[in-house]
Amino acid sequence: MSLLNHRAVIVGGTSGIGLAVAKSFLDLGARVIVASRSQDKVDAAIMELGQEAQGHALDFRDEAGTKRLFENVGPFDHLVVTAAGDSAMAPFEALSADEARATFDSKFWGQYLTVKAALPFIRKSGSITLTSGAFNLRPAPGSSTMSAINSAVDGLVRGLAVDLAPIRVNAVSPGVVDTPFFGGMDAASREAMFQAIAQTLLLKRIAKPEELAEAYAYLAKNSNTTGTVLQVEGGALLS
Ligand SMILES: NC(=O)c1ccc[n+]([C@@H]2O[C@H](COP(=O)([O-])OP(=O)(O)OC[C@H]3O[C@@H](n4cnc5c(N)ncnc54)[C@H](OP(=O)(O)O)[C@@H]3O)[C@@H](O)[C@H]2O)c1
Repeated sequence: MSLLNHRAVIVGGTSGIGLAVAKSFLDLGARVIVASRSQDKVDAAIMELGQEAQGHALDFRDEAGTKRLFENVGPFDHLVVTAAGDSAMAPFEALSADEARATFDSKFWGQYLTVKAALPFIRKSGSITLTSGAFNLRPAPGSSTMSAINSAVDGLVRGLAVDLAPIRVNAVSPGVVDTPFFGGMDAASREAMFQAIAQTLLLKRIAKPEELAEAYAYLAKNSNTTGTVLQVEGGALLS
């Protein structure tokens, strides 16, 4: 129970990887607050997590709203950000600069603004864990914008680890994970895509959100890890 009575805020904690992180932190004894845009998703997450968890509707691109959330939350120990928004996957020529900027506004600037708003309330013994992605080191065709965003997140993590010490700052970099992120696809197409991707991985299978949650839990618990981007991608970088 090494997160016993620690308070954790998980922005993006109502779905997929973030929801699995919330469950894992609760199992480790933490008190958990999840946030995301949709009140329906927040309500559903609280139903699943139980009444010990709290939830708030928040768009992490909204600087004033994010600041208000952390003023209401008050002092806490661990910030996790898994919120993402749309993914800009398209050949470079096909993606407009506006679409690329909108994705940066969400995944990069959303995480940046969340850290800025949360910082006054994070205890010095606490941690910040952001979310990158395996395109940081191994771009697939059509992922140049996501590769740039994830690399920017990695750089931010290293810089913040220096600037914010003794608060620890790390990131998890997932490969493909079976989450509602792919919920827009029909089940057959999604399964076919997962099978095709799995064949390219050393481990020959797609990750489950719980496997990612273990990585976030490690980074919150381990009191000597900072400035690290923890790759959890089934061997994607070596295959
Ligand atoms: N799944 C993968 O294969 C994969 C691979 C590499 C990297 N990642 C990264 O892992 C992270 C989590 O992905 P996931 O698969 O868990 O996705 P997911 O299941 O779609 O969950 C994303 C969460 O972010 C919230 N969110 C989206 N935009 C938001 C915003 N503007 N403000 C606040 N909350 C917002 C969503 O809730 P609302 O809709 O209610 O806002 C949801 O709770 C992302 O950073 C993603 O880029 C995922």
